[in-house]
Amino acid sequence: MKSAITKATALIAIAFCAGQSAQASTPYQATFGAGLSTTSKIADGRSNGSRSYELVAHPEFSQHNLRITADPSLCDPSVKQHSGYLDISDGRHLWFWFFEARESPQDAPLMMWLNGGPGCTSSMGLFFEMGPCTIADEGESSVPNHYSWNKHANLIFLDSPINTGFSYSSDGSKVDTLSDMTVDLYAFLTLFLTRYPEYASAPFHLAAESWGGHYAPNIGSYIHKKNKELAFAPRAGLQHINLASLIIVNGLTDPLVQFGSIPEYGCGGAPYPPWDPSGSECATLKRKAPLCTSLIESCYRFPSKATCNPATNYCWYELLTTITTTDRNPYDLRVACDANSSTCYPESNWIEREFTMCNMTTNGRFYEQGQAMRNSAALLPELINDGIRLLVMAGDTDWICNYMGVQHWMQKLEHNYHSEFAIAPARRWKTAKSGLVGGEVRSAGPGAGNVTFVQVYDAGHMAPHDQPEVTEDVIVHWLKNLPFYKH
Ligand SMILES: *[C@@H]1O[C@H](CO)[C@@H](O)[C@H](O)[C@H]1NC(C)=O
Ligand SMILES: *[C@@H]1O[C@H](CO)[C@@H](O)[C@H](O)[C@H]1NC(C)=O
Ligand SMILES: *[C@@H]1O[C@H](CO)[C@@H](O)[C@H](O)[C@H]1NC(C)=O
Ligand SMILES: *[C@@H]1O[C@H](CO)[C@@H](O)[C@H](O)[C@H]1NC(C)=O
Repeated sequence: MKSAITKATALIAIAFCAGQSAQASTPYQATFGAGLSTTSKIADGRSNGSRSYELVAHPEFSQHNLRITADPSLCDPSVKQHSGYLDISDGRHLWFWFFEARESPQDAPLMMWLNGGPGCTSSMGLFFEMGPCTIADEGESSVPNHYSWNKHANLIFLDSPINTGFSYSSDGSKVDTLSDMTVDLYAFLTLFLTRYPEYASAPFHLAAESWGGHYAPNIGSYIHKKNKELAFAPRAGLQHINLASLIIVNGLTDPLVQFGSIPEYGCGGAPYPPWDPSGSECATLKRKAPLCTSLIESCYRFPSKATCNPATNYCWYELLTTITTTDRNPYDLRVACDANSSTCYPESNWIEREFTMCNMTTNGRFYEQGQAMRNSAALLPELINDGIRLLVMAGDTDWICNYMGVQHWMQKLEHNYHSEFAIAPARRWKTAKSGLVGGEVRSAGPGAGNVTFVQVYDAGHMAPHDQPEVTEDVIVHWLKNLPFYKH
């Protein structure tokens, strides 16, 4: 038990949703177990020795090059793949792996997947959640994932920011804010679509998990701003990026509302409640929540390191890490934490060999810059009113970014669909494949909705890992814009 608690503390510190530099370090930095041969083969993209590279230069980004390695055929040999680096400058290099859609790639939308951290590799999504293959045999091989989202979309996995996964910096430069990360990512997309124009006219969907709840609104809003500038004053070489929707999975987006919901979720709301709602833990949580929310209010009002870091520290240690006094996996309250794994998930050890799954230095820097408690939800109404759709999913057994807090911030958001969303019923729907009741959906707008919230039953922080059929079903409805149920 003791070691489970220690692990869980370390785990919370590195949380994919959010972490705290003060506690970050050793357990996670260790290299674990048998490695994933697939990733280590890909890893030699970093040393250019035996590989051939193609350079793609761009007039608007004079310092940027796309180095595309020989196209890989691992993981999902049935589809066309590309992988390589985007050189943002001489010293900064972003790594991606692209999989074409399994079904009619020429008509499929384009999607990018980002894991959170900050500093966690998107290989987690690729090998562990919604990607084309799943690691097996303790990491020695991979098997095809029949629920992969690349069945329906051309799918890019990007390790972002630099110093995440295979992305690196060769001159000591760093990216430690959401806005800097966003600029690099925009450059990446522009270069990618210049090199692969066949995907440029398709709708683009940005999907992100956990800290991705911050990433997606920031990146989406930057793309949208750039699109507007270009419509007004076209620039040679730059193109409209066809941003169609943002997809957030168990994300941290509006910390004020989400941290405020911890007592409600932990003390009665959770499907697998960790505590007795009338017990002393719950009394303590309820007593501490108001100071946490007032500190976050200060961060929202005057965002800076000085205003935001006290909020991070207090809310983190007084509210979020309380879960470590139980033996539960904070990412999935249904199960106990696997004491032998840095993340409570044994499979995560299998990925970690050639590189650490989450770079804690990168993680810590974002926290130091006060980025965790920013209000990213505030960026969304403009996007929604301008026709960019928003899908938010939350596995309901996740403690880290609990589904109640997520639903609350969505209800609060002021946009053209606010009143329709406010009265929209939460309805159960069944998956097309096997008729499974996947959870509850609330939406406003036609089809699958302009603003849609999905509570995924019996799923933790990595909902696509826990409920592959259900989350794939959600994505099919979303991309095709088909209603989840008949009105
Ligand atoms: C690629 O290798 C050559 C020599 O083998 C080296 O000079 C060059 O810096 C390398 N480029 C990168 C981006 O690593
Ligand atoms: C953790 O690993 C040790 C040694 O390999 C083993 O004896 C123990 O059963 C494992 N514990 C769990 C919970 O898997
Ligand atoms: C992690 O990031 C730091 C800088 O943020 C970098 O110096 C280090 O090399 C990175 N570690 C790995 C394993 O990529
Ligand atoms: C809502 O989504 C539909 C597509 O279903 C789109 O045509 C419409 O423009 C969106 N609403 C707004 C306000 O942009």
